[in-house]
Amino acid sequence: MRVAALLVAAGRGERMGAPGPKQFLPLLGRPVLRHAAEALLRDGMVEAIQPVCAEAERGRVDALLAGLPVLPAVPGGATRQASVRAGLEALAARAPAIVLVHDGARPVVPPGTVAAVVAALDGAEGAVPAQPVADTLKLVADGRVARTVPRDGLHRAQTPQGFRYPTLLALHRDAAESATDDAALLEAAGHAVRIVPGSELNVKITYPGDLERAEAALLPRMLPRTGTGFDVHRLVPGRPLFLCGVEVPHAMGLDGHSDADVGLHALCDAIYGALAEGDIGRHFPPSEARWKDADSAAFLRHAAGRIAARGGLLANADVTLICERPKITPHAPAMIARVAELLGVPEDRVSVKATTTERLGFPGREEGIAAQAAVSLLVPP
Ligand code: CTP
Ligand code: MG
Repeated sequence: MRVAALLVAAGRGERMGAPGPKQFLPLLGRPVLRHAAEALLRDGMVEAIQPVCAEAERGRVDALLAGLPVLPAVPGGATRQASVRAGLEALAARAPAIVLVHDGARPVVPPGTVAAVVAALDGAEGAVPAQPVADTLKLVADGRVARTVPRDGLHRAQTPQGFRYPTLLALHRDAAESATDDAALLEAAGHAVRIVPGSELNVKITYPGDLERAEAALLPRMLPRTGTGFDVHRLVPGRPLFLCGVEVPHAMGLDGHSDADVGLHALCDAIYGALAEGDIGRHFPPSEARWKDADSAAFLRHAAGRIAARGGLLANADVTLICERPKITPHAPAMIARVAELLGVPEDRVSVKATTTERLGFPGREEGIAAQAAVSLLVPP
């Protein structure tokens, strides 16, 4: 193996002060750690990721990184350095030529960073993305400035840092002193460590407020995608009427293989359309007996799951029910609440409204009910 990456995530996130470790906090709907892993893979250079986490979190980490080229998580240690050492030892059998070490708390690695770090290792034992310090530096003691520290030449080191694997493994096995990053071990041993450009966007989630900065860095990279859906079902006597997940009292109900909820069906098709993932019939074929009288809530939950699987977000959904009767307005708040719950979004992202067709056509003659839906998603390219 040429390039492997360690993803260290065994810290407790004490400075963040969240109820759990910061690497598991949601960022645009997905855990910080998942973003960090995908960011490492984006340049197409990393062949395998070795996650390192607390013993008790191993199952959780394996699950949230599922589907990526990731080795089973191994337990870390009491310090970051001990965690890196544990990850390096776990890679020994694969003996990669190059190992990258990345903080699980850094969800934004700008494209090109991994490639630049790997390229810089041509002729050096280590390479580090770093940013020159722009602010004036003050040494503060007891809440007062003790003195101004010259910032000439000072840089802020980020991750992923890259190393020749045998060199870093040997240094970690020998290390007596503790270091806050891996390059420090090379510097102490007199090895050359190269600098590649870091980025202001490469935030390490450390304090409250850092999640908002990471979100602001990620959002502009998302692509807006729009989808529309349309559905019609026939009105028949003797069936309950389900519209947008709510049972509405009415003399007739909609006929169909499932519960025939036109509103939810149109909405599902809008989502599948936005993702270019076919339509509801492809995911839930009417030819299959198990969908007979099915609660369409399951279909919408599936569609919402597809947005999440693509790392996307639902910006808004708008459903129009087209019928002469029953009157929809009294039921719209309950429908909005139900749809928002099924999609896992706040209610203000969902609209359910209705129109008649002035007694024209099949909705006007009350032979059936139609629904149309539009959604906007934000999805990583
Ligand atoms: N880390 C680790 N093992 C440790 C300590 C830290 O794997 N014993 C990891 C963290 O999970 C994080 C990275 O090293 O991804 C950078 O460390 P830091 O930002 O200090 O994270 P925490 O130690 O979790 O935070 P804090 O210091 O605020 O408790
Ligand atoms: Mg720490």
